Amino acid sequence: MEPEPFSERLRAPEALTFDDVLLKPQESTVEPDEADTTTRVSTNVKLTVPVLSAAMDTVTESEMAVAMARNGGMGVLHRNMGVEEMVEQVRRVKRADELVIPFEEVVTVDPDSTVREADELMEREGVGGAPVTDTDDEVLGIISSTDVRPHLEVDETDPVQKAMTDEVVTVPVDVVAREAFERMYEHKIERVPVVDGENRLVGLVTMQGILQRREYDDAARDPDGALRVGAAVGPNETDRALAADEAGADVLFIDCAHAHNRSVIESARHITDETGADVVVGNVGTREAAADVVDFADGIKVGIGPGSICTTRVVTGAGMPQITAVAQVADVASQHDVPVIADGGIRYSGDAIKAIAAGADAVMLGSYFAGTDAAPGRVITMNGKRYKQYRGMGSVGAMQSGDGNRYLKDEEEFVPEGVEAATPYKGTLASELHQLVGGMQSGMGYVGAASIPAFKERAEFIRVSPAGQQESHPHDVVITDEAPNYSPNDE
Ligand code: XMP
Repeated sequence: MEPEPFSERLRAPEALTFDDVLLKPQESTVEPDEADTTTRVSTNVKLTVPVLSAAMDTVTESEMAVAMARNGGMGVLHRNMGVEEMVEQVRRVKRADELVIPFEEVVTVDPDSTVREADELMEREGVGGAPVTDTDDEVLGIISSTDVRPHLEVDETDPVQKAMTDEVVTVPVDVVAREAFERMYEHKIERVPVVDGENRLVGLVTMQGILQRREYDDAARDPDGALRVGAAVGPNETDRALAADEAGADVLFIDCAHAHNRSVIESARHITDETGADVVVGNVGTREAAADVVDFADGIKVGIGPGSICTTRVVTGAGMPQITAVAQVADVASQHDVPVIADGGIRYSGDAIKAIAAGADAVMLGSYFAGTDAAPGRVITMNGKRYKQYRGMGSVGAMQSGDGNRYLKDEEEFVPEGVEAATPYKGTLASELHQLVGGMQSGMGYVGAASIPAFKERAEFIRVSPAGQQESHPHDVVITDEAPNYSPNDE
């Protein structure tokens, strides 16, 4: 067969991104705050908010993951840290809203110590009360900070046994929140020890812990009530994958800049088989790539070069505008009921909901969250304005401080595919996420869809000319006050 003339390549297909399209407004009966954003990010994991924070060392560590999950989304821990550190961070998230404080973390008091010693111990550990246990961990009593204040019957040199309450209300190991709450309410107490069949201490439930859980009604929780968390693993990091899974990570994310690569796919398949965990494979940007991973992936992550700190497209000449990339992958994934995550390039809530209209089930963002308190790193001031550091995982700095194998790395000299930058300081994660999700819900309202599946079915795009794009942003005015969801710096 005659080879195709090179000039045929110039008939290249067109691909679109966020600013090239708008959602067509449609007749609606849906009030935005009624729009349900519940979605699936992987075969077995549902979230009430279809948003993930990026696996980047300036975005997601345990603090961000806790904040994301409490607000209904999920954080994906980056992998520029050792395996042990990652295990520790997964555990920290899992324990953050734990109903039962585990045995190792409960502050206990020796019955023979003095009242003053108990008082000092509780003060030092920042607890208002503690079980009194013997050397076999049997619960003998419970003491609270009011019991140890010297009064008529108790002196500070008396043994704890004299001051403690010895008729202790306890709960069994399989306690649930409602039961624990009822017992504490009934007995007007702040904490109950959890004991095994022989009255040995196993953990502690506190009223404060229960009330804190109630504050986050829509939190993303696993079946045991612990917060959800994702973990990034390299394609060859089976050890990290096994350790993160064992520590309780809900979803493993194969973290690779170009997953449509035979050895990456083989490794990802191996990790899926070895762990049995939900494994999201990425990143990809074409229907061909989706077809090659869809039979084993629990989710597919899309994004070749759209990110705010990415230089992949200019350094390598390769990439796919994000709306087309998402739609191509979703064409394949939807046939197999596999969730799709649109990763990178989202600057506004409108971009996020456009990604869903293109076929994604959830979105992943880096720069949007990097300026919040929950992101790692401190606030820096430049020219009187506050910023936080934000850098690509393929930047020189990130590759130097981690293993860097997401991108090409030479012992001597890196070939970076990302930059190091600063992003405006933004305050709390909760308020940023509120703006993001609120904007997405309004988008669902304009389309007349009350749920994500209904929205995906109903949404239609219209193409926008350069003049239309200009019209979309504030124009012909000088902005005098920044809106919480739009900054002129974003333009
Ligand atoms: P945003 O636009 O939300 O993008 O800041 C975050 C996503 O960008 C990807 N990422 C990179 N891509 N070079 C790249 O080409 C990099 O150095 C880099 N670091 C992160 C990643 O998918 C992230 O979720």
